[in-house]
Amino acid sequence: MAQEHAKAEIADLPWEALRERVLHCERCALHQGRAQGVFGVGNPRAQLMLVGEAPGAEEDRRGEPFVGRAGKLLDEMLRAIGLARESVYITNVLKSRPPNNRDPRPDEVAACEPYLWRQLELVSPRLILALGRIAAQNLLKTTQSLGRLRGDWHCYGPRSTPLRVTYHPAYLLRSPADKFKAWQDLEHIRARLRDEDPPRP
Ligand code: URA
Repeated sequence: MAQEHAKAEIADLPWEALRERVLHCERCALHQGRAQGVFGVGNPRAQLMLVGEAPGAEEDRRGEPFVGRAGKLLDEMLRAIGLARESVYITNVLKSRPPNNRDPRPDEVAACEPYLWRQLELVSPRLILALGRIAAQNLLKTTQSLGRLRGDWHCYGPRSTPLRVTYHPAYLLRSPADKFKAWQDLEHIRARLRDEDPPRP
């Protein structure tokens, strides 16, 4: 009951209060090992919201998502479709860093979900891009592989926002051969943002 009350309260929070709540959140045990909650960064009126997995060590320290090497690659990926980091909104499924960067647990994802839903309500993006298998599976509540999830439009959240899935930039740093496929995913985002026909395979 207390959980339901807390969820309803989060669903009504204005932007700054929401950010403060995430910063000091203790809704799951992850707060015990993190430096701070990591809310998100970018344009709070963005047309595109990017959702990663969870903050890593650097993000935990600096309080901003995707600021490490993977973040630099993400910035380049965005630039490839004509978008600056500041023009989109970037956040994660989990707002607190899991110890040793382990995968998020279902109870942690459930505890964090009201924050993401409220961010979605307030930013109200036209499109969502899920970064990597873990983010995609947790958002879409599926165990399907990234290979199955890529290449289609899905729907997510309170507004059934169209969602596309691509590779996590950290994976692309290890497997640069897949950068071309990630670029194809981004082309679909670019076309839809511009209301163009989808790119040909
Ligand atoms: N990986 C993620 O999924 N999110 C971050 O913020 C950083 C790395």
